[in-house]
Amino acid sequence: MIYAAVLAGGTGTRMGADKPKQFLEFAGRPVIIHTTEHFLRHEQIDRVIVVTPEIWCGYTEQLMEEYFGDSGIIVVAGGETRNETLMNAIAAIEAEGGLDDDTVIVTHDAVRPFVTEEMISGNILAAQETGACETAFPSTDTILETDDGRLVKSVPDRSRLWMVQTPQSFRAKKLRELYRSLTEEEKSVLTDAARIYVMKGEPVAIVMGDSSNIKITYPDDIQIAESIWNRQHKQD
Ligand code: CTP
Repeated sequence: MIYAAVLAGGTGTRMGADKPKQFLEFAGRPVIIHTTEHFLRHEQIDRVIVVTPEIWCGYTEQLMEEYFGDSGIIVVAGGETRNETLMNAIAAIEAEGGLDDDTVIVTHDAVRPFVTEEMISGNILAAQETGACETAFPSTDTILETDDGRLVKSVPDRSRLWMVQTPQSFRAKKLRELYRSLTEEEKSVLTDAARIYVMKGEPVAIVMGDSSNIKITYPDDIQIAESIWNRQHKQD
């Protein structure tokens, strides 16, 4: 089975809106609806799980019903951290009897509404072949490294730096095993699931992302999303 987990367990503190940013609207629909639709429409995805803060579960269920009707989407409560949210998605897979060695979970930030069909297909293939993958895109900015935010420690060669996006996809059982093997301290540092694999010496394949696959983080990003959407839909 191939599951999609739309991770919407955050509260969007940097956005500072009156509700979590995944529920804000652009182009007339909530961000989380734009995002979820890509997975619902993808023919290789068997089931979509949407994970939101517990107090937003009822609201999310209503939204899914309003836009997608009887779609079989499972809504479950998220966790304290993004990885805990991800573990709740795997628990939901297990609860419906879908967790075995071949189960693939395609995890995606609810606040990246411009994921494409190619990225999802590429993730499924790479997770099946390699066991884990992440979507990334060559860095357009020069990146510096600093320990204290005051002095530059190094400026790595930009041609070797890629920006991490999502989806990130895994064989779900293996991901849970690796996560459970971490100490509490490691769990607090390894906020990105693919980093767990890298730290454990496990291979992680790269799937090519896109400059449009933005993460909505700050208020300006809603306007940027609106203009990307307008450009994409003018081309149709
Ligand atoms: N996320 C999650 N569970 C958490 C924290 C984050 O599912 N406990 C999700 C967010 O909902 C988002 C994605 O992970 O879709 C990327 O996280 P980020 O942009 O940091 O979202 P927030 O945590 O909501 O934002 P902020 O950091 O500004 O509070």
